[in-house]
Amino acid sequence: MIIGFLGVGTISTAVIRAMSDRPVQGGSILLSPRSEHMSTQLAAEFPHCRRMASNQEVVDESDMVVLAMRPQQLDEALSSVRFRDDQVVASFIAGTPPSQIAALVSPASRVAQLIPLPAIELGRGPLLICPAVAEVERAFEGLGDVIVWEDESLIRVFSCASAFMSTYYELQNTIIGWMSTRGIDEDTAARYILSELEGLAAVGKATPVERLGDLPGEHQTRGGLNERVRRTLGEQGWFGDLASALDDVYDNAVLRSPDPTG
Ligand SMILES: NC(=O)c1ccc[n+]([C@@H]2O[C@H](COP(=O)([O-])OP(=O)(O)OC[C@H]3O[C@@H](n4cnc5c(N)ncnc54)[C@H](OP(=O)(O)O)[C@@H]3O)[C@@H](O)[C@H]2O)c1
Repeated sequence: MIIGFLGVGTISTAVIRAMSDRPVQGGSILLSPRSEHMSTQLAAEFPHCRRMASNQEVVDESDMVVLAMRPQQLDEALSSVRFRDDQVVASFIAGTPPSQIAALVSPASRVAQLIPLPAIELGRGPLLICPAVAEVERAFEGLGDVIVWEDESLIRVFSCASAFMSTYYELQNTIIGWMSTRGIDEDTAARYILSELEGLAAVGKATPVERLGDLPGEHQTRGGLNERVRRTLGEQGWFGDLASALDDVYDNAVLRSPDPTG
């Protein structure tokens, strides 16, 4: 399959690198010419990546076209590009459901929205695909945990639920910083906490969904340190506050990008 990228910015670059790291390579990747430095660099780095002279050339030679510009750049980028009805379109554009994209890329009609998160560069983390389009699932297979969802009216729930990335790192850094104030050098503190968090995530992933509710209780001893920290934070309203913050973004935020800088 030939996959063409319109937009070679932060997230495309992460995805292209992850695709190129997969053990089984197949097909080639075409790059739009903007972001000259990055598209030239990727084409030089990977023999299966080719930088094209125009957006139309990318579309003409691709079986699947990935839309990866910012939402506000979409209309201009697509205004003079013609698609074919046999093409599949995979859109990274946040806040723009696949039915809306389909109207812009007609006569191409098989369109999916994807939500890749930055960890995809390491081939990790969730990759939402909505709705199921077999070619898209095949093309992105092996890039983290692919989660296929049909109902586009609920994509916003996924976007908002992943809006705790910077909070997670703040939490991580607070614990590391606290250890430093208590006499542990930063390097040792970081190695200790990062490994602890990785272990907890691994246990979470290995636990059946119906048992996830047991994990807090299984990771504390009655009257022990973990119970005390969780109770203190619970009494201060922490967990309810987190749900309220998610409600706030769901109800009020203008959705542009799950980019941590966004
Ligand atoms: N970053 C994330 O973690 C993330 C995650 C999920 C989804 N997304 C979505 O992915 C999209 C891209 O995000 P990003 O963070 O990668 O943005 P970005 O770094 O700003 O990249 C945007 C890219 O689009 C290019 N572009 C702009 N206008 C174009 C046009 N007319 N034709 C072709 N290319 C054009 C830009 O080129 P120039 O540099 O020359 O302007 C740049 O290469 C957004 O819609 C965002 O909502 C991002």
